[in-house]
Amino acid sequence: MEISDIIKNYFEGKGWIEEPKNLYEPIDYAMQSGGKRLRPTLVLMAVKLFGGDVERYVETAAAMEVFHNFTLLHDDVMDKADVRRGRPTIHKKWDDNTAILSGDAMLIKAYQMVASKVEDTKLRSVLDLFSKTAIEVCEGQQYDGDFEKRKDVTPDEYFNMIRLKTGVLLAASLKMGALLAGASEEEQRNIYDFGMNVGIAFQIWDDYLDCYGDEKTFGKKIGGDILCGKKTFLLVQSLIKGGASQKQTIRQLINNNNILPEEKISAIISIYTQLDMPKLCEEAMDEYFRKAMKSLSLIAKSDEEKAPFIAFAKKLMGRKS
Ligand code: IPE
Ligand code: IPE
Ligand code: MG
Ligand code: MG
Ligand code: MG
Repeated sequence: MEISDIIKNYFEGKGWIEEPKNLYEPIDYAMQSGGKRLRPTLVLMAVKLFGGDVERYVETAAAMEVFHNFTLLHDDVMDKADVRRGRPTIHKKWDDNTAILSGDAMLIKAYQMVASKVEDTKLRSVLDLFSKTAIEVCEGQQYDGDFEKRKDVTPDEYFNMIRLKTGVLLAASLKMGALLAGASEEEQRNIYDFGMNVGIAFQIWDDYLDCYGDEKTFGKKIGGDILCGKKTFLLVQSLIKGGASQKQTIRQLINNNNILPEEKISAIISIYTQLDMPKLCEEAMDEYFRKAMKSLSLIAKSDEEKAPFIAFAKKLMGRKS
């Protein structure tokens, strides 16, 4: 069976609802609302690449998706986001307390699932990797929130923040698969680095889509990052590349709460466009794509075995070729 079908079947066959309903129904709602299922796919792709037993580790792979969805429940509270995957977010459909507690329960579920089918000999490494990654995501999310209030975030700080909030989970999903399949430490490191570089490009693409995406396919509201004062790739770069008056206009607009949200969003996006931000995003993504390809080239597997990873990386950053 294809990896995508294995994952689809797993989630279709899984019921989340128990008592009390108000704790579990939001979990079911989140887990059944689709999403790209990137992280479990990466786990199983890596298990396969390194010759492991794909069927055995489906639950471990699924744990990465449950963890990811937990982060989204809390992220949408923190980012005041009302729409995800084209549907109202948990805190919108229920309330903040529900998003917090159902999110907490999902984190615990993820811990139960990640370890459930793992051999004793691998358990320690699996849990260490999972815990390290989970705490790094929290660190990234804290930087992301802290940066909303700052005006002087540097590109290095931005890249470190997205490495933590987004890169580590994609990277760790691949490393998890490698670890489960018994790959060497060097192979684990290389597949992790591949995932990290793809993850960084993926977050730049997400930042781009937050301004230039199509709400229908993106599933989230356009301009959410602008309204929160998020230090996205586009904002950080515009505050470097812009002329004095463009920078001043951006700063004034970001802090101005007396204009309509739509006006604020369109005024800032028009400055991004003047400054060629779409092109700059593409160049930055290309750079990380090249880095990812370099990490992948260090893994001694055939081109045929590695092809799905290249295709996956391209898809993740919206590349057509
Ligand atoms: C959203 O992740 C959060 C980011 C890291 C940008 P995804 O884009 O993987 O979300 P879903 O699961 O497919 O909805
Ligand atoms: C993604 O950050 C990182 C996590 C959710 C941990 P974003 O805040 O950009 O993700 P979206 O755009 O809401 O999916
Ligand atoms: Mg966020
Ligand atoms: Mg968000
Ligand atoms: Mg985003």
